[in-house]
Amino acid sequence: MTPQPYGPAELHAAAAAGIRAPSLHNSQPWRFRLHDGAIEVLADPRDHPALSDRIGWAVRIACGAAVFNARLALLATDTPADVRLRPDPADPMVMARLRPGPQRRATYPESDLLAAVGRRHSSRQPFWPDPVPTEARMRLVDAARAEGAWLELLIGMTALSGFAEIAQSTDRVLRRDPAYQERLSGWVRTEAAGDGIPVAAVARVGEPQDLLPQRTYGHRPRAPGRDFEPEPLIAILGSTGDTATDQINAGQALQRVLLTATDAGLATSMISQPIEVTGAREQLSRSLGSRSGTPQMALRIGYGQAGRPTPRRDQAQALLS
Ligand SMILES: Cc1cc2nc3c(=O)[nH]c(=O)nc-3n(C[C@H](O)[C@H](O)[C@H](O)COP(=O)(O)O)c2cc1C
Repeated sequence: MTPQPYGPAELHAAAAAGIRAPSLHNSQPWRFRLHDGAIEVLADPRDHPALSDRIGWAVRIACGAAVFNARLALLATDTPADVRLRPDPADPMVMARLRPGPQRRATYPESDLLAAVGRRHSSRQPFWPDPVPTEARMRLVDAARAEGAWLELLIGMTALSGFAEIAQSTDRVLRRDPAYQERLSGWVRTEAAGDGIPVAAVARVGEPQDLLPQRTYGHRPRAPGRDFEPEPLIAILGSTGDTATDQINAGQALQRVLLTATDAGLATSMISQPIEVTGAREQLSRSLGSRSGTPQMALRIGYGQAGRPTPRRDQAQALLS
C-alpha cells in the first residue's frame, strides 16, 4: 500500500515533540513545515547563537535532535518517516525532509524513548556519587551507534582529568571575552519568556574544587556542602565526518543518547565549550587516541535530581506555512 502523504495532524505531532529538543541556550533554532506530503525541519537563521568559531554547528545539532523527536512522534502515529538530511542542495536551510514510509507500529523501546521526550531536561546540579552500571553504559553506547555516531565513555581519572583540563581552559578563554559574556547573560530569562534559560535552571557559579566548568550564565552561588560528584561519567559523542550533514546526524544521535539515559533513570547535562572552539576540539580529539572522527558533544551523565523543564515558544511560532 502506498503511504499516505503527511498532513496537518502529523505536522503538529512532529512539531510538538520536535520543540522539546535541547538547543544551545534554549534558542530553539528550528521551524517545521509541510512540503509536498513531507514534513521538513528547517534551521531558522534568526536564532543563530554562535558563540565561538563553530558557526552553524549548534543550530545543526539542535535541529538534528528535533528531527529525532519528530521521527519518534511520527512512529507513534503508525506512519514512520523515511528521513533525508539536507535533501535540497539549493536550500541549505532545509535540515531534513521526513517522507511517510511503510506503515508499522512503534516497538516498545521506541515508545519508551517517545515517553522520555517530555521528561528529559538538562540537569546542571551535582549528581549523586553512585556509578552508572555497565548495562546502562552499554545502552548509551548502542544508542549513539544506532544513529551512525559513536559515544566514548571516559574511564579512569587520567582520561577524566585530561578532559577537565581542556574544558576548564576553554571556559577560561571564553570567559575572558567580554562579548561572549554579554551574549551569555543575554540568554538568561524569566520563567514567562518562551526561550532562553530561566534563572532557576541556570547552573550555580563554580567553586575552586570543581573538576568541570559549568556554563553559569549568572552569579548564583551554590549551597555549602553541595559539591559535584568526584568522578563524573563523561561521554564524548562524535561522528566520523564533520560535514553539515554529519552534524545534523550527530544531533539525532545526541537526542537518542539523552532519551535513552532519561529512560534509564539517569540525569544528563551538556558541556560544549571544548567542542565549540577549534583548538580545544582538536586537542580533545587527539586525547581520544584511536577514535577517529570529530567530537560533537560532551555529556555528563549520572544519577541525580531531574532537571527542571525550560519553557518553549508557542508551537505555532515554530510552524511555517
Ligand atoms: C549544541 C548545544 C550545546 C549546549 N551546550 C551547553 C553547555 O555548554 N552547558 C549547558 O549547561 N547546557 C548546554 N546545552 C543545553 C541547553 O542549554 C539546553 O538544552 C536548553 O537550555 C534547553 O533546556 P533542556 O535541555 O532542559 O530542554 C547545550 C545544548 C545544545 C543543543
